[in-house]
Amino acid sequence: MKDVCAREITCLRLSVTDRCNLRCRYCMPPEGVCGRLHDEICPAEELAEITRQAVSLGVRKVRLTGGEPLVRRDILEICRDVAALEGVEELCLTTNGTALSRLAAPLREAGVNRLNVSLDTLRPDRFAGMTRGGRLEDVLRGLEAARKAGFSGIKLNVVLMDGFNRDEIPDFVDLTRRYPLEVRFIELMPIGQGAAERFLPASAVLEACPELEGVDVSGVARRYRTPGGRGLVGLIEPMSHRFCARCDRIRVTADGKLKPCLHSEQEIPLRGLRGEALRRAIREGIESKPPRHYMAETGRSGAARNMNQIGG
Ligand code: GTP
Ligand code: 5AD
Ligand code: SF4
Repeated sequence: MKDVCAREITCLRLSVTDRCNLRCRYCMPPEGVCGRLHDEICPAEELAEITRQAVSLGVRKVRLTGGEPLVRRDILEICRDVAALEGVEELCLTTNGTALSRLAAPLREAGVNRLNVSLDTLRPDRFAGMTRGGRLEDVLRGLEAARKAGFSGIKLNVVLMDGFNRDEIPDFVDLTRRYPLEVRFIELMPIGQGAAERFLPASAVLEACPELEGVDVSGVARRYRTPGGRGLVGLIEPMSHRFCARCDRIRVTADGKLKPCLHSEQEIPLRGLRGEALRRAIREGIESKPPRHYMAETGRSGAARNMNQIGG
């Protein structure tokens, strides 16, 4: 269905857990977060029921996010249930990749069509520093396992941070010359721990790699390629080129609150609702979706949560 700004809402992002096995500095506070209690988190059958009702309102694509979705023990069951629903044309998952060497093949069998993997640096020491203890090697092995399991169209999400990975822009772009990957550079948003002083506009990518040629606009990304390159480079610019006018998504947090907009404090509780009542709540959420975010005016996200509770 369309919202009041005539935007067709076709994508549902389900955060299946607020927990994560990493502690990225821009996402989690140093002490980590105290995860929601087990019984606050939507069980698999409620996630399927939410999806069923959202599909009846026009959703066709589902993306599972976290925290880190792969730390949830019943993640394969969730994937199977959602993928089996009539009307779900695409099931995607956004992950930090560390568990993919074990889970890539089972995820594929469970019906996941596409993976986006977050990876902000290609240097082991920097990776350990940014994630407070993660091992780059786990992600690289995970990516290889995903390829072997038959996943294609993998997107790497790189959050741009001044003083952290600016000097690695050419290395990431180089990956797209050699592999059929889409590397997407994301502007750091002032949400949760995202610190304004680290902000780097995505135009830094075009300055560092002037050979990039424009290709198209796809979803939230403007896409480019290097001459003769096998993959694509995407720029996701929520700060410098706001894309709210083409927003097509709603979100549900791990504790079952519908968020019509990532950056609005508005939340509609869905727990305990089923059937027509659930459908009505989701419809109201779509109808009341804000036209855009206001980070340019306020300097902060309006969301009263950390990113690990929303899933990006
Ligand atoms: P596909 O296009 O299906 O591959 O997925 P996606 O780019 O929508 O999803 P992904 O989880 O990989 O998100 C990539 C980045 O875009 C993350 O940093 C998100 O926080 C950011 N992002 C995704 N959706 C929105 C949105 O609606 N608003 C804003 N401001 N940022 C978003
Ligand atoms: N700004 C931009 N992107 C962010 N992500 C997490 N926090 C932020 C932020 N403050 C990204 C993750 C992941 C995606 C789901 O959201 O790196 O790729
Ligand atoms: Fe959509 Fe809100 Fe993101 Fe804008 S900030 S693209 S309206 S979810």
